Amino acid sequence: MQPLEGFSARLLINPYICSMSEKAIVMSGIRPTGFLHLGNYFGAMRNYVKLQEEYTCFFMVADLHALTTHPDTRELKENVHRVLAENIASGIDPEKAALYCQSHIKETAELYLYLNMLAYLGELEKTTTFKDKARLQPDNINAGLLTYPVLQAADIILHRATWVPVGKDQEQHLEMSRNFVKRFNHRYGEVFPEPMAYNFGEDLVKVPSLDGAGKMSKSENQMATLYLADDDEMIRKKVMKAKTDAGPTEPNTPKPDYIQNIFQLMSLVSKPDAIQFYEEAYVKCQIRYGDMKKQLAEDMVSFISPIREKAEAIRNDKKYLTQVMEAGADKARESARATMEKVRQAMGLVY
Ligand code: TRP
Repeated sequence: MQPLEGFSARLLINPYICSMSEKAIVMSGIRPTGFLHLGNYFGAMRNYVKLQEEYTCFFMVADLHALTTHPDTRELKENVHRVLAENIASGIDPEKAALYCQSHIKETAELYLYLNMLAYLGELEKTTTFKDKARLQPDNINAGLLTYPVLQAADIILHRATWVPVGKDQEQHLEMSRNFVKRFNHRYGEVFPEPMAYNFGEDLVKVPSLDGAGKMSKSENQMATLYLADDDEMIRKKVMKAKTDAGPTEPNTPKPDYIQNIFQLMSLVSKPDAIQFYEEAYVKCQIRYGDMKKQLAEDMVSFISPIREKAEAIRNDKKYLTQVMEAGADKARESARATMEKVRQAMGLVY
């Protein structure tokens, strides 16, 4: 689904968007359970920054979802602050988007409760993420873990959002959200639009891991992932450790995956002439990967360090963070209250 193409057509058929002047609603969430990395930056945050210019955006830190896997809350506050700070440092503007914390919106809990009555045990047990997490934490298969997709649906439809920018791993949750919406609307009357994954299409860039195995990710091999919080020395160390070989010996040798990955990383942060230099050196079988990685390391440092420093400054400004969270929660609450008014009416919970 290409949102922008389908957008005008949807305006005609979507009863929730009444006029051209009303912007479509975008909603997404991120769990505060790890350090943000370059994959998050290019895969999500950078695109959110574009969305906030065109849509009414709700971006949320999913602290309640974190409790399903991380019941120990000692580090939660710091983690919530860090995620917020890193998002702002990456360009999310709290004046444009509603940037808020999930647990500040009590209406979420109410909608989650109602939706739980429309969610079936069978479908929840079949969810891939539930099965994966149950396997990882066999001693804590709590009901919150089971109903994780119900809470996520509540987050989204609380704002009657239509577009949800998320990665592939979240598509099943979105499909479940649509099913809950269909059931609700069918039983109680049309209140919610069906939320859809917002696809970035061309804009979705791959950020390969430095060990040549898959993408950068939150939990896997930390030495192969560049975090927005990594200091300059750590960035250099990680880049210099990336896998290479002795280089091609014959012209027209296709690049092995792990070499292609280094070029791909360069394409994200290096200047075109530097990239061209190494492309030509490769073709001529004169490439020196040590030099190439030094170049990449310096370009990564130039790219990441301003974000890291900005995030650090924001993280230390607790007053500002509180202000941002309060302002975000105010915006989110306003939209949540309007929705819950409709929900209670539709359900007949008005006496
Ligand atoms: N489940 C999402 C994840 O693991 C986080 C999330 C929570 C979310 N609520 C959401 C994403 C609402 C999109 C919309 O990444």
